Amino acid sequence: MIRCDHTPAWAALQAHYATQGRGLDLRQAFARDTGRFAAFGFEAPEVFADLSKNLVDSATLRLLRQLADECALPARRDAMLRGEAVNASEGRAVLHTALRAPRGAAPFSQQVHEVLDAMLAYAEQVRGDAQFTDIVNIGIGGSDLGPQMVVLALDAYGAPGRRLHFVSNVDGHDIAPLLARLDARRTLFIVASKTFTTQETMANARSAREWFIAQGGSEVARHFAATTTNVQAAAAFGITTTFGFWDWVGGRYSLWSAIGLPIAIAVGAASFRDLLAGAHAMDEHFAQAPLARNLPVLLGLLDVWYRNFHGFSSRSVAPYHQGLRRLPAYLQQLEMESNGKSVDADGAALPFATSPVVWGEPGTNGQHAYFQMLHQGSEVIPVEFVAVKNPAHALTDQHRMLLANCLAQSQALMLGKTAAQAAAEKAPTAAAGMDAAVLARQRSFPGNRPSTTLVLEALTPRSLGALIALYEHRVFTSGALWGINSFDQWGVELGKALCGELLPRMASGDTAGLDASTAGLMKRLTA
Ligand code: F6P
Repeated sequence: MIRCDHTPAWAALQAHYATQGRGLDLRQAFARDTGRFAAFGFEAPEVFADLSKNLVDSATLRLLRQLADECALPARRDAMLRGEAVNASEGRAVLHTALRAPRGAAPFSQQVHEVLDAMLAYAEQVRGDAQFTDIVNIGIGGSDLGPQMVVLALDAYGAPGRRLHFVSNVDGHDIAPLLARLDARRTLFIVASKTFTTQETMANARSAREWFIAQGGSEVARHFAATTTNVQAAAAFGITTTFGFWDWVGGRYSLWSAIGLPIAIAVGAASFRDLLAGAHAMDEHFAQAPLARNLPVLLGLLDVWYRNFHGFSSRSVAPYHQGLRRLPAYLQQLEMESNGKSVDADGAALPFATSPVVWGEPGTNGQHAYFQMLHQGSEVIPVEFVAVKNPAHALTDQHRMLLANCLAQSQALMLGKTAAQAAAEKAPTAAAGMDAAVLARQRSFPGNRPSTTLVLEALTPRSLGALIALYEHRVFTSGALWGINSFDQWGVELGKALCGELLPRMASGDTAGLDASTAGLMKRLTA
């Protein structure tokens, strides 16, 4: 494995940043080059990406591609796709791509398609069963975020009269109010857990089963299904309808597996297959397109450029589609659980930064909250806009407003406004008594703030599948260059272990040997 900072391209990028990169001005770049939009616009399956408002020129992209080559990115991608154990710390292959490949086209095809067919047949059975009006998915992390995000995004493909609910938090405020609204006779619970040991999911599953029985429910086997790699544990829980998957499917990459059952129930088997097909189309693009036109690779390279050369510590995601309101939360797990690491795959401490903070809200809501900081704050935060050309509703005027807002925000970030321009404008009445120069400085915008705009024709199962796969491969790209294992998550273990030690103390009140803060807080919370 060749780490990015050990390559000639890394040194060349440092020199390029010092001489040209740092000083690149987008306004001048557009003025100089009328072909900039065409040169930095990229087509991938279902997704068009405008990268022209990013702080790059053709030399930057050439050097970044050289970096990818020198880090043997194509060979590492191919090793993942072939099923090599690229998740070395867990000794596992990483084959979420096999879950969406056509029959016979990828490793483990027979098992994958057997479970897929069975899972989709069951989904159709549930869809045809008028008894079930409410489906509750109980899971957390990858067993919640992916299915939830997709079900919300594909709301237009759902059937009226069937409600999908997602319970994840161990906080009883999540499940209790939901159970209070449900009718046990009409509810199907899906316990979704790769391991079937996760504390939160098991606690919620037990509460659901107790509630179901207390309501007079007797057929646990009919009202509970499980999606898990741990079929025995599901059986021990009393669940006989179980759809399995395998250790080579990472939790945050699992929505394509049996974990996608709530999606299939919501949108149906044909749409679920379209979701897989869209992702597969993006997989093929990632596997085959030359690096110069390979969109996931280009986005991953841009992430490295911003994080390690410009030093930008976060990226804001602004989906201009209400259906994508959980996309930022989904991406937080995908990106930060994958690449939030500070040692490389050989255990050496990294001398550079890795995963940025990923955050955001759907547009236009974010505009009326934190966009102030994006435009005038002291840090530069690259923004990623996701725009969808055709809506699933008939409110054409509102959709035009939405898209105009999206374009205006990326334009404002780039163009900014000088103090002189602000001074030339008519001052607001409330500020009439204020020194004009002071006011103009407060009303100026630095501009030259970078953004990417991703465009979908419509939010369909196919385009959503492609969009998600685009993000997955982008995270692979930056992780591979950084030399980290993007597929383990040891960082979540310590808190889990300490919680296991604290839980009995919460009941007994024993604080002996604890640090003073934890002991003090425990007393306050339990006394
Ligand atoms: O938070 C750690 C984690 O292992 C995630 O990677 C995973 O998606 C989540 O917990 C849920 O795990 P499981 O599906 O095994 O319940």
